[in-house]
Amino acid sequence: MRRILVIGAKGMLGKDLVKILRTSSAVGQDMGWEVLEWDIDEIDIQEEDSTVTQIENIRPDVVINLAAYTDVDGCESQEEKAFAVNAEGMRHVALGALRCHAKVVYLSTDYIFDGKKREPYLEDDPPHPLSVYGRSKLKGERYLRDIVEDAVVVRTQWLYGKYGKNFVTSILRQGREKKVLSIVDDQVGSPTYTIDLSRAISVLIQRGLRGVFHVANSDRCTWYAFGQEILKLSGMGGVKVVPISSEELGRPAIRPSYSVLSTEKLKRETGVSLRPWAEALKEYLSTIM
Ligand SMILES: NC(=O)c1ccc[n+]([C@@H]2O[C@H](COP(=O)([O-])OP(=O)(O)OC[C@H]3O[C@@H](n4cnc5c(N)ncnc54)[C@H](OP(=O)(O)O)[C@@H]3O)[C@@H](O)[C@H]2O)c1
Repeated sequence: MRRILVIGAKGMLGKDLVKILRTSSAVGQDMGWEVLEWDIDEIDIQEEDSTVTQIENIRPDVVINLAAYTDVDGCESQEEKAFAVNAEGMRHVALGALRCHAKVVYLSTDYIFDGKKREPYLEDDPPHPLSVYGRSKLKGERYLRDIVEDAVVVRTQWLYGKYGKNFVTSILRQGREKKVLSIVDDQVGSPTYTIDLSRAISVLIQRGLRGVFHVANSDRCTWYAFGQEILKLSGMGGVKVVPISSEELGRPAIRPSYSVLSTEKLKRETGVSLRPWAEALKEYLSTIM
């Protein structure tokens, strides 16, 4: 039986990914994987020695590292923590995996790009992060690829799922509390459902692929259009939505104005292409409402 270790298993993506890996519903059959769930209570990936030893001791075949400091704005004022978790943490996990020849999967982000391309980013487009979060995740990617040969970097974006605070839950809450919402209309991306992403990760592991893969739901929109769709689908179409600029919102971290990821490589190498984001959103809302 293959042993898969998920680190960051109690986070938003982690909870869905563990479920999907256990049922391997991506291919409609039980792959008989043993899935181990670790999070901050079991391991602190900032600690090199204990991380390496703990991983070596359980001898996994695959390690999936989702553990991260994901507060994009918080990273701006906590640069040291961002790099300690997102970059050095990845290095420690990679060193542990190297000791037992395990494959490693690392979750990275569209925020490694600056958004100037204005057409979907390919896996080998040059990165140029605008934020501390983006820089720390890029460094994590580089550590991994320098240390482990059998490595997969999955870059994704704009995640929402049942098990974490996210844009969808925030809009639903605000829609119930306010009559008018102001939402940013100058950032373009693809909202991505954690269940769909988890299925794609499962397929990448089953096929034994290596390298960088962009994984996101298809079609694109701005946060403003995403917000409108959330309100419409949840029966709050009467709430007024005002488009604003990122500058007006004034968040500490600069986000790329365009970070659509091309998922052609995923499709070419696995046959998998994720459904349009609006379709996935509809299914997600039906599970939480
Ligand atoms: N969310 C997005 O839109 C998005 C987009 C692109 C890429 N990603 C990447 O996808 C991955 C999963 O994201 P997510 O949204 O599911 O994140 P999440 O909900 O924040 O989950 C991350 C988990 O890692 C844990 N963790 C934090 N520091 C740790 C440490 N030092 N050692 C061990 N565990 C630690 C967290 O615990 P605490 O909650 O206690 O801190 C949390 O349970 C991350 O790598 C993220 O960078 C996310």
